[in-house]
Amino acid sequence: MPTPESTGNNAPIQPRLDAPHPQALRRPHLLTAWQRLPLQPAARQSTTEAARILTATPHSSANTHATPSCHDILQEVFGYSGFRGPQEAIIEHVIAGGDALVLMPTGGGKSLCYQIPAIARQNAGHGVTIVISPLIALMHDQVGALLEAGVSAAFLNSTQTYEESSQLEAQLLRNELTLLYAAPERINTPRMKGLLTSLHERGLLSLFAIDEAHCVSQWGHDFRPEYRSLSLLHETFPDVPRMALTATADALTRQDMIERLQLESAQHFVSSFDRPNIRYSIVEKLDPTRQLLRFIQTEHHGEAGIVYCQSRKRVEEIAGMLEEAGLKAMAYHAGFDAKIRQQRQDRFLREDGCVMVATIAFGMGIDKPDVRFVAHLDMPKNIEGYYQETGRAGRDGLAADAWMVYGLQDVVNQRRMIDTSEVASEEFKAVMRGKLDALLTLAEGTRCRRVSLLGYFGEASEPCGNCDNCLNPPAVWDATEAARKLLSCLYRVQQASGMSFGAGHILDILRGKTSDKIIQYGHDKLSTFGIGADLSEPQWRGVLRHLIASNLVASTLMHSASGNSFNTLQLLPDARQVLKGEASVLLRQQAVKAKGERTRHSSKSSVKTSVKGMAEATLNAGALERLARLKAWRAGVAKEHNLPAFVIFHDATLRAIAEQAPQGLDDLKGISGIGEKKLTKYGADVLLACADTARSAPPNMPPAPDDSDMAMRIDMDFTMDLQAPDWPE
Ligand SMILES: Nc1ncnc2c1ncn2[C@@H]1O[C@H](COP(=O)(O)OP(=O)(O)OP(=O)(O)O)[C@@H](O)[C@H]1O
Ligand SMILES: [Mg+2]
Ligand SMILES: [Zn+2]
Repeated sequence: MPTPESTGNNAPIQPRLDAPHPQALRRPHLLTAWQRLPLQPAARQSTTEAARILTATPHSSANTHATPSCHDILQEVFGYSGFRGPQEAIIEHVIAGGDALVLMPTGGGKSLCYQIPAIARQNAGHGVTIVISPLIALMHDQVGALLEAGVSAAFLNSTQTYEESSQLEAQLLRNELTLLYAAPERINTPRMKGLLTSLHERGLLSLFAIDEAHCVSQWGHDFRPEYRSLSLLHETFPDVPRMALTATADALTRQDMIERLQLESAQHFVSSFDRPNIRYSIVEKLDPTRQLLRFIQTEHHGEAGIVYCQSRKRVEEIAGMLEEAGLKAMAYHAGFDAKIRQQRQDRFLREDGCVMVATIAFGMGIDKPDVRFVAHLDMPKNIEGYYQETGRAGRDGLAADAWMVYGLQDVVNQRRMIDTSEVASEEFKAVMRGKLDALLTLAEGTRCRRVSLLGYFGEASEPCGNCDNCLNPPAVWDATEAARKLLSCLYRVQQASGMSFGAGHILDILRGKTSDKIIQYGHDKLSTFGIGADLSEPQWRGVLRHLIASNLVASTLMHSASGNSFNTLQLLPDARQVLKGEASVLLRQQAVKAKGERTRHSSKSSVKTSVKGMAEATLNAGALERLARLKAWRAGVAKEHNLPAFVIFHDATLRAIAEQAPQGLDDLKGISGIGEKKLTKYGADVLLACADTARSAPPNMPPAPDDSDMAMRIDMDFTMDLQAPDWPE
């Protein structure tokens, strides 16, 4: 595995297996510990206690009135009418002083699970909630969103000047904050420890919320060593309630996280991981750049999306290609300096219809609601990574696509990255291989993708009707005979020449091609020469990919004396069963199309109206006009406040306002996304924007570019560059 690099403050490094384990330092039971707090009454983890806290006298100057229920906070502060899934149970439990482990999918709504308790507990005099988050680049917007909603929040991180930090620290000590966001490395500084101790002594340390908690585990897909220092929280402040939140939930990571953060006695809240509005598709990788462009232009023209690539080089190539094709595309990887990364992230969040082409360094915690697609041009390392990356699509609950192209090279490269890693131990490699195999099984599989994905997270489900395999059940062919031919060919070649060869050569032998190399080695004399002339080369590549993915064949990187590197194929022990006819091989029929033909997915959905199109098509002309004016007004406010537009109001909120045609402030009450603070602050302006008839109708969507034209502008093929994979930031 190439050496990962430091990415500024987050500086992720290689997993280590020998790190100390804080198992011995178990925290005393919550109830006893809680009673030791001088200013806090004995808390019971019950809804009665939650109700008591919710109805307590307000304490902080930041929140000026008591809120009788968490529903009221949801409605009044955030403007939402109901909780999602287990949010309410989690919130009540945490308000009552209970510890919690919250597993909820990406975009599931974890933030409210600590923000509402933070407000309720501050109102009841319990002080500030400390949110530990690795997402420095997002803290400004996260805090901005809370301030917009009227919640007193701030962040402390390395981007601030000494004066700014000092001012915030003073505010913190005066108990003027409801939430303070801080990076994990910050928590362990003597200065921060001093602040926390001072608050704690006065009973003003209300709650620790550890976001992206999987970062504490080396088995999670983005381990951050700084998270290990969070053992400080339960060691130094054992009586302060803690909650850990993550979207990563495979059993191994979960267990490690619980032990590292000492959450054994915490209540575990595990939500369904289903994201029903996301359509999963995994297509054969034929001509990836061209496939991507076609996918975006036919299905998501003008819409925001993220394209993940494995290497920085590829990120830049693809972003350049999309830009040339007229899309608002940007490249993002950890090789760019922090300022450029921040600018591009801000543009993606603030401007409509941008496509971010990125390594995995981009995306964690991004709360842009209208990302309509996440495309993978290279396969991720494991299902957790894939699920978290795809989960960034469709956070607004509207239809979105998770689309991946996948091919032989992906399997070979990912395997090799594990095998050649010099820093990882054998135990670590074995776990990584297992995780990769699970992803390969998903990619190769013919059953419902959602059933496979949820199954990986331990959740049973029924076929979804909203993935490629459900919508277009793939034809399956019995490839046992073909597999046996390929395996025997490998065997014969090895036997005859005493060495192994690459895929191209083996497939040439099977297909009976007389290349110079075949003549040179006498491989045209082998009994397997020409026995596979009935299948095309792409079909053979499909068979080979499956055999590699199923661990029947290994692809090994060799280095010649002249310094060249090449792949060679070897039989693995499990191949014996297939060779002896004891196991069969079933493969999905490949959608091998001539160049220029549409794939099944895109031809089917070429008639599909875009989500944006559909949503706005339901509005009448007057509402459309109001919507355009509201968007223009929102853009001005967002710019003035230096925040993304969706922080002011989500699109869905503006659409609801436009549809309502409000005449007075009362008409705005109850619209999802309009809390009390926003109603007071923006209500009059919103009414004004709705009433204004002076401006013209919204501009039409630009027409989709001509398909044939697009083919001219793309580069056709390149091999995967394995250098410098990034780490999430
Ligand atoms: N009860 C609710 N009603 C309406 N919208 C909600 C509700 N809860 C959360 N949301 C919205 O859902 C979106 C996603 O929420 P949030 O950012 O908390 O996700 P998350 O679980 O933290 O995801 P990630 O793992 O990606 O960080 C936000 O825009 C939020 O405002
Ligand atoms: Mg989050
Ligand atoms: Zn399905």
